Amino acid sequence: MARLHSDAVAVLLELAGPNADEILTEMEQRATREGFPIVGAEVGRTLALCARLRGAKTVFELGSGFGYSAYWIARVLPEDGTINLTDRDAGLLADAEAYFERGSLAQKATFAQGDAISLAREARGPFDLVVLDHDTADYVEGFEAIRDAVAPGGVIIADNVLSTDTEQPLTPAGLEAKLSGEPAPNERTRAVAAYFDHVSHADGFETYALPFGQGIAVSCRI
Ligand SMILES: C[S@@+](CC[C@H](N)C(=O)[O-])C[C@H]1O[C@@H](n2cnc3c(N)ncnc32)[C@H](O)[C@@H]1O
Repeated sequence: MARLHSDAVAVLLELAGPNADEILTEMEQRATREGFPIVGAEVGRTLALCARLRGAKTVFELGSGFGYSAYWIARVLPEDGTINLTDRDAGLLADAEAYFERGSLAQKATFAQGDAISLAREARGPFDLVVLDHDTADYVEGFEAIRDAVAPGGVIIADNVLSTDTEQPLTPAGLEAKLSGEPAPNERTRAVAAYFDHVSHADGFETYALPFGQGIAVSCRI
């Protein structure tokens, strides 16, 4: 996985900590073994930072897999905080629950199996923090499903919006073509450009992009 910054920066980010515990490390090893796309430690740490800065108590995640990103956040939630995990895959969610039990975090979590976008539409906010990590092609729909449930001052963070090293790379020419109305060279360019275009015009939100992990877009409800 190519980095969006230098190797030296990666070392310093890790040195700054906080770092993965035993269970997060086990999840990272599983992700590597199975080729499962977790957000990785840089984004996990950044999600925890955002939760800390906001003093987050309520969190909703679209696309939780076996719970890696959610676990990073749950560690910094207060005892009466809640993170709502969602995934269409019941087996992955059961694994997430088991990891949370082992980490003594299950009392701060709910686990809902089904279509994350439908679950987001039905979710009762307000949420301090929302994570979009379901299919990138559906990020705009996910954003629209949850935006009204985000508390003023809360944030929606979308993962995997800057990386260029996928089978469907983002290129300057491809992005410029798409943003000026021509067809995108691949589905990923279409989805990422559509998301940036959408959030940059979303009333009541201000969006910032950060080059951690595979890149995140942080949309603050103002
Ligand atoms: C990138 S993985 C999530 C990784 C997780 N956030 C982490 O970092 O540990 C994406 C997950 O989203 C789920 N997913 C994708 N689209 C979905 C949808 N519309 N509804 C529910 N789950 C979805 C997939 O089953 C997969 O487990």
